[in-house]
Amino acid sequence: MTKLWGSRFTGTSSALAEKFTSSIAYDHKLARYDCLGSMAHARMLGKQKIIPAKDAAALVKGLKKILSQIESGRYRFDPKSEDVHTDIQVKLKKLIGQAADKLHTARSRNDQVALDARMYCIDHARRIIAMTAGLQKSIVDFAAKHSRVIIPAYTHLQSAQLVLMSHHMLAYVEMFERDKGRFFGCIKRTSNNPLGSCALSGSSLPTDRNFVTIQLGLAQTSQNSMDAVADRDFVIELLSAIAITGMHLSRLCEDLILWVTAEFDFIRIDDAFCTGSSIMPHKKNPDVLELIRGNTSKFPGRLCELLILMKSLPLTYNRDMQLDKPALFECVEALEEMLPLMAQLFKGIKVNGPKIAQAIESQHFYSVDILEYLVKKGVSSRDAHDIVGTMVKECLDKGVQISDLSDGRLKKFSKHFGPDVKKLLKPEISVKIKRSTGSTNPGMVKNQIASWKKKLK
Ligand code: ARG
Repeated sequence: MTKLWGSRFTGTSSALAEKFTSSIAYDHKLARYDCLGSMAHARMLGKQKIIPAKDAAALVKGLKKILSQIESGRYRFDPKSEDVHTDIQVKLKKLIGQAADKLHTARSRNDQVALDARMYCIDHARRIIAMTAGLQKSIVDFAAKHSRVIIPAYTHLQSAQLVLMSHHMLAYVEMFERDKGRFFGCIKRTSNNPLGSCALSGSSLPTDRNFVTIQLGLAQTSQNSMDAVADRDFVIELLSAIAITGMHLSRLCEDLILWVTAEFDFIRIDDAFCTGSSIMPHKKNPDVLELIRGNTSKFPGRLCELLILMKSLPLTYNRDMQLDKPALFECVEALEEMLPLMAQLFKGIKVNGPKIAQAIESQHFYSVDILEYLVKKGVSSRDAHDIVGTMVKECLDKGVQISDLSDGRLKKFSKHFGPDVKKLLKPEISVKIKRSTGSTNPGMVKNQIASWKKKLK
């Protein structure tokens, strides 16, 4: 194995141990950030005259070349390198010679990997925010396109009241907006430069850490060298934000999966996002939605793994911390794959109007509207609940609808019932009479759609 240490060792290391401790197989994903961090560090070393200016210039030039190779995919990682930091260091030496040996002045891999991981998290949190906004846009477009469709809404998965389908969809837009807020919060706290904290106690060399911070466009310079190398809160926070976003995605999938069943049949998903059965020729299965729902399970799992990984580690750096990366990369990559997929899937959803119309035929959906009709006439909400409850029970027992009850029969339930109560028994009326802020009132939902469109532009 190629390593940056070894002179104090006598024996050779075990091949099994080398394979077990190596991280190049996954931490090569940090290469870009490693180069950027090293370039800023080299410039600082030169500016502070810790190393000669010409060496600093050679380091920056060599690192630039490596960075361009990484970005164009031409860079080849040596699987024999212990980790990404070693790999780049070794390549740099081959490229520029002796000056490369001065790069690792006033830093260690402990602060280096902490910086790389922070930069990775910031970059990907930004991407996730943009992708989440993309999904929000798809949902808002869908809501706008089907703004007049009225569907049953559920509590306990029992049909409850009527709402606009667009109102239902905008609930998810709210969730994803909170998710974006969490990612912004992650970025804010992660933007703290640990480089220059060295192994754990800082350096006796005249470094200028703030210069590196500014070069990297980070918001702050860490103020405790021990915390700087021991902290992985930022990874845990990002995974937590990912886990919550995943939970929202999964609930959205669950709603859509229910809606495409033959029993609901409210929507149709484009064939491009479904698969068939190898035995049942009639089947069209929503596998993409199921796999998004399934894949999001790994987020809380990985989040728990990292909380457990970190909770018993003494200060400061421990090699256990290397294992934050597979969890981090796996979750980031999975979410970044699923968000655009979901956004695309939304564009092909068709609404099955006639089937939805059938699903809202029952007049039980109006029970609260009738209750509030009585409240408006001065009946207490408790009494109104009893009156409507008794009325619903009679309808259920007799197998009739509320509109089948004669005006005289209605009066028996409450003297306050007039014939106008039957005007409430229409889906359009049920949503239209809602007036509380944030309700499913079509005017309000329309305003919400407009305001989201503006916000997401
Ligand atoms: N591969 C290591 C990690 O990801 C880099 C830091 C190694 N530091 C050390 N003292 N061995 O954590």
